[in-house]
Amino acid sequence: MTNEVLKAIHYRRTVNQNSFTDQDIAKEDIVKILEAAIAAPTHKRTQPWRFVVFQHDGLNRLGAELGRIYKETTAAEKYSEAVEQNMSKKATSSNVAIAIVVNYTGELPEWEELAATACAVQNMWLAAHSLQIGGYWASPGLINHLGNFLGLEENQKCVGIFYLGHHNSEPREPVRLPLEDNVRWEG
Ligand SMILES: Cc1cc2nc3c(=O)[nH]c(=O)nc-3n(C[C@H](O)[C@H](O)[C@H](O)COP(=O)(O)O)c2cc1C
Repeated sequence: MTNEVLKAIHYRRTVNQNSFTDQDIAKEDIVKILEAAIAAPTHKRTQPWRFVVFQHDGLNRLGAELGRIYKETTAAEKYSEAVEQNMSKKATSSNVAIAIVVNYTGELPEWEELAATACAVQNMWLAAHSLQIGGYWASPGLINHLGNFLGLEENQKCVGIFYLGHHNSEPREPVRLPLEDNVRWEG
């Protein structure tokens, strides 16, 4: 890799709670990560991303809500207490969780607002990586039931939870198909 940006893009990985350590993420690092998010491009500068940041007891509340939603939305014959606890644990064993929300303005096709928000998430992920913080975009079906808890408006949708933590995982190469499988060159 020839420069820091390319290195970060190459070595950014999904890092989950299994590798998170107890080290606190500094507030200034959370702010740097969010500043990176809002530097993403948007058509018509609609800036459609919204973020809800959970720390400390906020993580306990998020975890309890995820467990509650799982229980409420899962048929009795499929329900498992272990899964409920695991849902909650994803929040409580993270140092920070950021709910990723798209604010649909109606000014653009929805896909453009969603695409811009995904660009913001990639920026967050790269910024976190550059600060030795691991991140993980979780998109379980439960996020479709978080509207009230997050205080979302009619035109807003939660598209995931970005879990963050300092971590002890080793750098990993990306697992990807060869470039030739994805690209056609013309001319
Ligand atoms: C939109 C989106 C949603 C994702 N949702 C999940 C998820 O719910 N659970 C999960 O384990 N990983 C999730 N991931 C992470 C992917 O599994 C991960 O990015 C992929 O395996 C590639 O690994 P890497 O991030 O280390 O390159 C999601 C990624 C994206 C972009």
